[in-house]
Amino acid sequence: MAGPEADPLSPEPTKRTHSGATGWEAVIPLDWNRLVALTNEPVPSHLKRWWFCLGGTPAYLLLIQITTGILLTFYYQPSPEQAYESVQRITYGIPFGWYLRGIHKWSANLMIVTLMLHMLRVFFTRAYRHPRRINWVFGVALLGLTLTLGFTGYSLIYEQLSFWGATVAANLTEAVPLVGHAMATFLRGGPEVDATTLTRLYVLHVGILPAAIIAVLGLHITFVRLHGVTEYEFERPDADARTGRAGTKIGVGLIAVACLLTVAAAAIAALRGRPGFDFIGYVFGPTASRVIWAIGAVAMAVAAVAVLRRRLAGLLLVLTAAVLALGKLGRDLLLGEARVPALWAAMAVGVLVLLIVALVLHRRFIVGEKADEPATFNFFPDHAMTELLIGTGLLFLLTILVLLFPAGLGEKANPNMTPDHIKPEWYFFFQFRLLKISPGLAGMTALQVSVLLTGALMAALVLWPWIDAVLERVAPGKDVSVYVGIVGFLWFLLFTVWEAMVE
Ligand code: HEM
Repeated sequence: MAGPEADPLSPEPTKRTHSGATGWEAVIPLDWNRLVALTNEPVPSHLKRWWFCLGGTPAYLLLIQITTGILLTFYYQPSPEQAYESVQRITYGIPFGWYLRGIHKWSANLMIVTLMLHMLRVFFTRAYRHPRRINWVFGVALLGLTLTLGFTGYSLIYEQLSFWGATVAANLTEAVPLVGHAMATFLRGGPEVDATTLTRLYVLHVGILPAAIIAVLGLHITFVRLHGVTEYEFERPDADARTGRAGTKIGVGLIAVACLLTVAAAAIAALRGRPGFDFIGYVFGPTASRVIWAIGAVAMAVAAVAVLRRRLAGLLLVLTAAVLALGKLGRDLLLGEARVPALWAAMAVGVLVLLIVALVLHRRFIVGEKADEPATFNFFPDHAMTELLIGTGLLFLLTILVLLFPAGLGEKANPNMTPDHIKPEWYFFFQFRLLKISPGLAGMTALQVSVLLTGALMAALVLWPWIDAVLERVAPGKDVSVYVGIVGFLWFLLFTVWEAMVE
């Protein structure tokens, strides 16, 4: 006998809705097993190394920036009358405002540094080649958007330097052929940098640019997932050691000399405890100076060992040390403040030799796969854990940076008084130096020449995977692209340090 028929309109809740699921699985009716399988794709073992999974770091820093940025907008006021005062209140009045602002500022800078490092790793491992060319283009778009995010954020402070930086940027935009005038007028909201400009920069900084970055990043990560990350043929370390070529031996010898020079110079400085270590205008006391020198010596020793062991992390550490040491030396020499120039010179030579040898031996940095290492590991939880560890380390680093170098505040913007020296943020030093040394040419002003040159370099960057394909066809197996990369990077470094050195 059939039981009573269920009333289809009965308010009685159904117990099982989706493939027998109950509780929260019924509330969110997803196929969880498929989702777990999707996130659990095997990852090639080389991604255990930070150099290869560097892309996650700017993504993490972006998340920090968005979080701290939202909190900052609770207090920031985007009007010429209030902007500077509201930043002042955040920095000196609101509890932990200095911390929030410091983390926002430092994570922006670190994001750009790690983005450049990610790009260098993609470049030198040639991960941009077919079929990933389009993802390189998305990457360049992300770089451009991130730099613009940094520029617009800096302009919001409304201090003398940031205001005049925005004015220079508008003038540069104006010099773009054909569309420059329209673009500059749109950016400024009229013929002059004024209140409307600030509103536009604000809208760009808190709305349009973050949204655009998230959208392009979505595409970038989707393509990484679709293609999978590039897999490499790793040479076995012992196979390489067996060859024992003369070039490698000379390289290792040079590295050893360079290491000795740098470590000795840093150690002597640590022992002597030169009073008042001065880092771009921030002077430390004698004890802090000694600690800084000691950390420098240890870092250089670690870098040297890492380079000798052909770890890419060593190359990165050396690159960072090279920028800092050469920048500091140059600045001190120029200002006549280099009290122990020989020490600095020894360090600079050491770091430079280390850097050059490291770059020449670039191929060997990809070597390093352990013979007994499994070819893949799980994304979740293994890779997620690695990223979490890196993230935690970054939070510590950011906090230390904020404590040592808090975000300061210059003079309030005065549209009627041009400052003696205009300086953009460090990541535009290259462009700024290019602008300063460009000559007027073929009826064009120096400004127009520098804008054209920048445009050409940007186009080359976007089109690099295709240019590389042509170079490879013309000179197969000659590594021309690597040498172009080394020259390009050193050019960027040189101009950046040069601009940092001069007023
Ligand atoms: C906000 C900026 C960026 C983020 C968050 C990001 C994130 C990532 C992540 C997570 C990966 C997976 C592998 C890895 O971690 O290295 C990746 C791969 C890749 N990225 Fe980026 N990226 C950014 C910018 C760039 C830039 C500026 C470029 C180059 C111009 C670039 C080009 C590539 C390419 C070609 C790959 C594939 C690498 C491979 O197959 O080994 N990305 N990116």
